Amino acid sequence: MSDAKSIADHWGKGDVFALITSALTKQGKPLDALTVEDLAPVDHYHARGFPATVELADRLPIRPGQHLVDIGCGLGGPARYIAKRFQCVVSGVDITPAFVEAGNKLSALVGIQSQVKIELGDGQRLPYADAFFDGGYTQHVTMNVPDRPRFYAEAFRVLKPGAFFALTEHGLGPSGEPHYPLPWSEDGNGAYLVTPTETRRFLEEAGFEGIEIEDTGPKYLAGYRAAIERAAAGTLPPLGIHILMGETAPQKMRNAARNIAEGRTHPIQMICRKPAR
Ligand SMILES: C[S@@+](CC[C@H](N)C(=O)[O-])C[C@H]1O[C@@H](n2cnc3c(N)ncnc32)[C@H](O)[C@@H]1O
Repeated sequence: MSDAKSIADHWGKGDVFALITSALTKQGKPLDALTVEDLAPVDHYHARGFPATVELADRLPIRPGQHLVDIGCGLGGPARYIAKRFQCVVSGVDITPAFVEAGNKLSALVGIQSQVKIELGDGQRLPYADAFFDGGYTQHVTMNVPDRPRFYAEAFRVLKPGAFFALTEHGLGPSGEPHYPLPWSEDGNGAYLVTPTETRRFLEEAGFEGIEIEDTGPKYLAGYRAAIERAAAGTLPPLGIHILMGETAPQKMRNAARNIAEGRTHPIQMICRKPAR
């Protein structure tokens, strides 16, 4: 099986749209009156979820009417939130067919399909012209990306001069290999973590400048611990990212927290830009 297929199979299990709409119905949400925010508990697919996207968006210089790219957009929650908040257009690309299909259906459900379009593709070979976008971001995707120089070179290529690029990921920590299963891999297959130092170097080699780095480890650790406590108390809501993670969701969350605490992973956020000229 190709790497791309096994990564897509890992993320997209079954009819994701049906899974989400049935959880919404269980919560008593009428499907014909949904907002972008109603989907937020499930469609920001990273441990800190919606608050992490809001925090990232607060830092980005986005203006109305701009066209952004979300690389590895998943179900499109961050793209829909950013498109609505900043009155801009977001093109999402993701390697998992089940997420592309569900993401476009969710955009139609909340009536934002004219501002957010998701298509199938690999961040290492973006289906866009050179210097096309006013800004770009990739949230918690690169843990699955084997060719980082190529991934960042592609991001650089499709951005206009002066555009911003933002990235969040679990980097490799100093204390050895992570424990599995994790949200991005059951057993280490398809996982390609690199240290924050290496990521910074890859971004610089791609041509990005003005790199600002935030260590988001403590925030992610707190996010995972809160989810673990809710799971243990049986108070996880019907709608949440746990419904996408499969049967090993509890172990994935426990390992993710343990890896950060033991210094095996190192969550970071980096914001940089393509030089103006
Ligand atoms: C943890 S989810 C994050 C989704 C989204 N960025 C978000 O924050 O809600 C990781 C996503 O990365 C996608 N992905 C992994 N490798 C990719 C690649 N080479 N190109 C595009 N998408 C990829 C997966 O299909 C999955 O949707």
